Amino acid sequence: MHKAFAGRKSVLVTGGCGFIAANLLRRLQDLGGYRVRAFDNESLGRREHIAGLGAEFVKGDIRDAKALDAALEGVDTVVHLAAHTRVLESIDEPQHNFEINAGGTLQVLEAMRRAGVRRLINASTGGAILGEAEPPIHEGMLPRPISPYGASKLAAEAYCSAYCGSFGIRTLSLRFANVYGERSSHKGSAVAAFIKRVLAGQPVTIFGDGSQVRDFVFAADLCDGIVAGINSDVTGVIQLGSGVPVSINQLLDELARVAAPTPVRRTCVAFREGEVRSTYCDISRARAELGFEPRTSLAEGLARTWRWFAAHDAPAVERPEPLRSRNPPLAGADADFSRLAIG
Ligand SMILES: NC(=O)c1ccc[n+]([C@@H]2O[C@H](COP(=O)([O-])OP(=O)(O)OC[C@H]3O[C@@H](n4cnc5c(N)ncnc54)[C@H](O)[C@@H]3O)[C@@H](O)[C@H]2O)c1
Repeated sequence: MHKAFAGRKSVLVTGGCGFIAANLLRRLQDLGGYRVRAFDNESLGRREHIAGLGAEFVKGDIRDAKALDAALEGVDTVVHLAAHTRVLESIDEPQHNFEINAGGTLQVLEAMRRAGVRRLINASTGGAILGEAEPPIHEGMLPRPISPYGASKLAAEAYCSAYCGSFGIRTLSLRFANVYGERSSHKGSAVAAFIKRVLAGQPVTIFGDGSQVRDFVFAADLCDGIVAGINSDVTGVIQLGSGVPVSINQLLDELARVAAPTPVRRTCVAFREGEVRSTYCDISRARAELGFEPRTSLAEGLARTWRWFAAHDAPAVERPEPLRSRNPPLAGADADFSRLAIG
C-alpha cells in the first residue's frame, strides 16, 4: 500500500519517465513543496531517465484500472502525460493509438473519480488537433484533426471536459506546441532527431522543402506553464507554445551556428501525409490565465539542448524494436506493481 503524502502538494505524473515528465520533475524538485509519484509502463521512457529527480516511481499502464487505483492513493493532482505520441505510427496503428490516448485517458479520469482526486492537467496538442488551420492557432478554432493521433488527443480532451461537467473534476487540457530540450534523446521529433543525426555525422532529413513553420517551445518554459496549471483552478483548453513561428530551414540555420564547427548537412525528401504543413500558436490565453511567459530564445534553448545531447552521448538512431513490443496489449500481461524510490 502506498502511504498518503502529507503536508505538501502531491502530484501523480503519468508518463512520468518521458521527456516532458523528466523536465517537469526537475522543475518541481527545484521549486520544492511537491511530492511527486511518476507512473509509467516504461514502453518508451525508462526509470533511469528520472533518477535523482526526487520522485517515487511506480511501474504501471494507464489502461490498467487496478494499477491506477494504487498509484492515486494520497494524490491530489494528476498531470497526465502518458501517451502514444508518434503521428506516423498512429497512421499505421490507429486502434492501438486510440486505446492508449483516448481509452487510457478515460481510465485515468475514472480512477480519479473513484479516488476523489479533483485536479487534472491533461497534455494535449494544438497542431495535430486543429489540422490545417490558418496560424496562429488558438483555442477558439474548430478542431479538424488529420491524423489518428490528433483525433485521439481530441477525444481525450472531450472526456476531460465531460468529467469536469459531470463529476466536478477540474480538468485543464494544455495544448503543447513542438517541445524540445534536454532529456529528449529517445524522441523522434525535429530538434532531437536533427541533433542526433548531426552528432552521428549524418545529414538531417527534411520532409518537404524546409519552408514549413512550427512553434518550438523549450521544455523548461513549457514546464513553467504546467506548474502554473497545477497551482491554478483554470479549466478548459489552453495553448502553450513560444508564440514564435520558425521554419525548419531557420531552425537548421540556428542549429548550424550552435553546432559549429560540426557541420549540419541537409537532405530533402517528400512531405509526409498526416502532418500539418505549418502551425504556430497564439498564447494570449496562457498569458492571461496562467501568467505564462516563455523566456528562452531559440538560440539559447538550442544551445542548451545541443550541450545536453553532446554530454550524454545520445544514441544516433531510435530504438529499433517494433512499436507493439514497446507498448504491448494489456490482455494476458501481468501488471507490474514494483516500486522504486528514486531520490
Ligand atoms: N513532445 C512534444 O513536442 C509534445 C507536443 C504536444 C503534445 N505532447 C504530449 O505531451 C505528453 C508527453 O510527451 P513526451 O514528449 O514527454 O513523450 P514521451 O514519449 O517522452 O513520454 C511519454 C511517456 O509515456 C509512457 N507511456 C506510454 N504509454 C503508456 C501507457 N500505456 N501507460 C503508462 N505509460 C505510458 C512512455 O513510456 C513514456 O515514458 C504526451 O501526452 C504528448 O502527446 C508532446
